[in-house]
Amino acid sequence: MNHQSLKKIEYMDEVKALVNGLANKHGRTRESLLPILQGVVDKMRYLSSEAMTEVARELDLSAAQVFGTATFYSFLDTQPRGKYVIRICKTISCDMHGKRDVLQTIEEILKIRIGETTSNRKFTLLETNCLGWCHKAPAMLINDEPYTELNADKVRDIINEYIRK
Ligand code: FES
Repeated sequence: MNHQSLKKIEYMDEVKALVNGLANKHGRTRESLLPILQGVVDKMRYLSSEAMTEVARELDLSAAQVFGTATFYSFLDTQPRGKYVIRICKTISCDMHGKRDVLQTIEEILKIRIGETTSNRKFTLLETNCLGWCHKAPAMLINDEPYTELNADKVRDIINEYIRK
């Protein structure tokens, strides 16, 4: 067996163990899908097609369902992302409650734009659809941690705290 296929088998074993562990933790219902996808991205930094297929198998969903959810929440990273992935909600409530200021502040501090990763690979900045925190808009996630009722000052403090980590 060549080195390449050995690597692939090791990777698949790792993916299987990870997805299985996450499914044991979060359950195997449709509601478990998002936390499981988040768990995969946290651990592996991105969601490979192998990982999505494995999640579909574990939860008995179609690959299209998993792919659809991953796309909707912008988890479909084809590139390894930064250690901290910031997902700022771009949907209407957040947009109307000052998302633009919040986004601008993040862009200024980190010197990156939506879709980019800082050169030290610490932060990636993404937009996402409604996170379900509309009543406390504007909202964002940093990895799987939600932050709500944001404004420029609040988000500056949060980002600076992550910079110090
Ligand atoms: S619109 Fe932003 S969380 Fe719902």
